Amino acid sequence: MAQPAQDLDALLREAESAIAAADSQQALNEARARFLGKKGSVSAVLRGIGGLDGEARARVGKDVNRVKGAIEAAVTARREGLASSARDRDLAEHRLDVTLPASAPRAGRLHPVSRMEAELCRYFQQLGYDVEDGPEVETDHNNFGALNFPEDHPARDLQDTFFVEGGHVLRTHTSNVQIRAMTGKQPPFRFIAPGRVFRHDLDATHFPMFHQMEAVCVGESVSFADLKGSLCGFARYLFGDDVKMRFRAHYFPFTEPSAEMDVWWQGRWLEIMGSGMIHPRVLANCGIDPERWQGFAFGFSIDRPAMIRFGVPNIRQLFEGDVRILEQL
Ligand code: PHE
Repeated sequence: MAQPAQDLDALLREAESAIAAADSQQALNEARARFLGKKGSVSAVLRGIGGLDGEARARVGKDVNRVKGAIEAAVTARREGLASSARDRDLAEHRLDVTLPASAPRAGRLHPVSRMEAELCRYFQQLGYDVEDGPEVETDHNNFGALNFPEDHPARDLQDTFFVEGGHVLRTHTSNVQIRAMTGKQPPFRFIAPGRVFRHDLDATHFPMFHQMEAVCVGESVSFADLKGSLCGFARYLFGDDVKMRFRAHYFPFTEPSAEMDVWWQGRWLEIMGSGMIHPRVLANCGIDPERWQGFAFGFSIDRPAMIRFGVPNIRQLFEGDVRILEQL
């Protein structure tokens, strides 16, 4: 074996320049394998020392280890160098301008009718009304019977009822909550009941589903004057202090006397409310003594004021769920 030490130093220099020339992790792996791999040149020297005598073998063995360590260190240094320059290149190429303004996330918001409903609830709560709730699928009794609609009375048809299997109906008004809330309760009390109602009707101002609010006030000396005062105050709240309004006599089976209220709006009378003194029979149906207690009730559409407030000409635009339209409201 000729001058292994010198061979080794030459080998080291050769390895160092191969490592320096490696321009990728893969090229570096290959360079390392060429010298340190099983079939690499350093391993070949190591295999050759078996034929040397004891002293030479120890010397060459030590030398081989020194060279191996040096090559390994060079590989490690180069590996880190390659990695960090790859990172630098990456950072330079994929530059992010963090000063650019971010695009705002699309926030959802409440539907105009929900906003109107919440506002009206606040109005009545300030006047001492509780908020009651009732189901949309209702018994014939709560929607009609207990409200003094006679069996087979045409008034039931007037409301264009949707009938559901099992003798139930989709409630045609929120007046069903009169029965639910008053039954088992003793006056005095006042409450409102907002909710969805359903009628078989469809044009620019009617939709088969719409929103109503019911208001009920029962006490020992609640009079028609109280009803009138409440309605006038409410109409002024909705349409402004100098709104023109009128009452028209009307008929509802569950109120007596009954009246509808109109407001003068954009050059014509707009009917906005049904109202009346709660019929004694309705109070009695709920277990309330009509000799002692009187009350008024009124009901109105929440959608109508919402359409006016948000400038929606066609009620369908409120409910067809077209986000492009709703976003503009
Ligand atoms: N329920 C009636 C309707 O839907 C409105 C109303 C409520 C009338 C309360 C009188 C009293 O038309």
